[in-house]
Amino acid sequence: MCAALALLLAPVLCAPWLARAANLPDLLGLHSARQIWLGACAACHGANGEGTPTYVAGFQQPDSFPQFNQCDQSADEYTRDYTEIIRDGGPARGFSQIMPAFGSVLTSAQINGLVALIRSFCTDHDTSWPPGELNPPRALITDKAFPENEWILTTDINAQRGRPAGIANEIESENTVGSTNEVDLSMPVDWVAQPGGGLYGGIGDVTTGFSHVFYQHLGNDLPLYGNTGSILALQGQVTWATGNAARRLGTGETQLGAYAMYDVILPHQLFLQLQPGGELPLHTYNLPRSVFLNTAFGGTFYQAPRYEGMGFGRQWSPMVEVTANRNLAPGAVTDWDVMPEFQVSLNRRQNIRADLGYLIPVNDTADRPRQVWFYIEWDWGDGGLFEGW
Ligand code: HEC
Repeated sequence: MCAALALLLAPVLCAPWLARAANLPDLLGLHSARQIWLGACAACHGANGEGTPTYVAGFQQPDSFPQFNQCDQSADEYTRDYTEIIRDGGPARGFSQIMPAFGSVLTSAQINGLVALIRSFCTDHDTSWPPGELNPPRALITDKAFPENEWILTTDINAQRGRPAGIANEIESENTVGSTNEVDLSMPVDWVAQPGGGLYGGIGDVTTGFSHVFYQHLGNDLPLYGNTGSILALQGQVTWATGNAARRLGTGETQLGAYAMYDVILPHQLFLQLQPGGELPLHTYNLPRSVFLNTAFGGTFYQAPRYEGMGFGRQWSPMVEVTANRNLAPGAVTDWDVMPEFQVSLNRRQNIRADLGYLIPVNDTADRPRQVWFYIEWDWGDGGLFEGW
């Protein structure tokens, strides 16, 4: 009995050691993803991805140690990232070196099978958890549907000679609630040119918002790099008149806003993001109602990962945004802007990213200067600010 038990447990107990060994000839003999999992992964990750206690696994689990059966930890991850971690090991993505590299012992088909298996551990069979593949890169202006946990600091600076100076910052916090909701808080901190000359700085109009995903679809047509799909969310928000209107830091009026976010994931890592909406001032003393359409189109490409050297497969996403704004007042014109920009991941874990763009007003340029835009985005759901470099 005892011997039988020992035999049964052997693959599980030895897996960490096996995995660290240079080759795993036995593994290649195991066929299904489930068998490979039980033989090579379950010792550390648990039979169903729930993780094993420290005394069984034999190592201290890092804070970021995944529980694959928790949908809020696994659903929003990218298949691509999982694949690379399994192939190249934890350090390739800024994770612990306890997570071994399996690239030399598993075929890519076996790794794909393991990723699919990990995806099936999400126990909440409510299918509403949007998969990471529906989360395209964030644009500078256009908001997207995928619910996230992150902080974003956006800055834009007037950059046109002969125009008034001006710096606007926006600190934004996004937090998921359940699988398909997000609550937002954004606080502008601006330096605005004053009519009498000079700049005046302070807090602008704070916005609180709530969004919900109403539709999502991901085709499994081209696994890994080529998934196509779409996701739609609606957002309602209130912009509070917290900014000093006399100093031009705010509008002086509370406004209601509503918009849709519809993102289409196209083949070849291309994406299109659409955000139509409107703003409704609660009183219209001096502020007209307005409507807008923000759009972003772009694609992502990856530097080749060289996990033993310096490169980690940094991701680059060039995009162009086209935005249209129109006040609903007699004689108003539609203001068009174009912004070429690119986003790049800064750390190995790719959860800290930056975006740089140049906003070019197309028409009605008299009081709309060209601006340099920039953001830093920290997806804290994937790790701390100083982890994963
Ligand atoms: C020796 C223990 C060990 C073994 C064996 C092991 N892992 Fe891991 N794995 C870890 C640790 C520890 C982490 C988390 C690293 C961190 O958070 O810094 C991890 C992380 C991961 C991640 C990334 C999770 C995330 O949050 O993004 C994936 C995917 C993964 N492992 C899959 C596998 C698969 C598949 C196997 C088997 C082929 C396997 N692991 C075998 C210890 C192990």
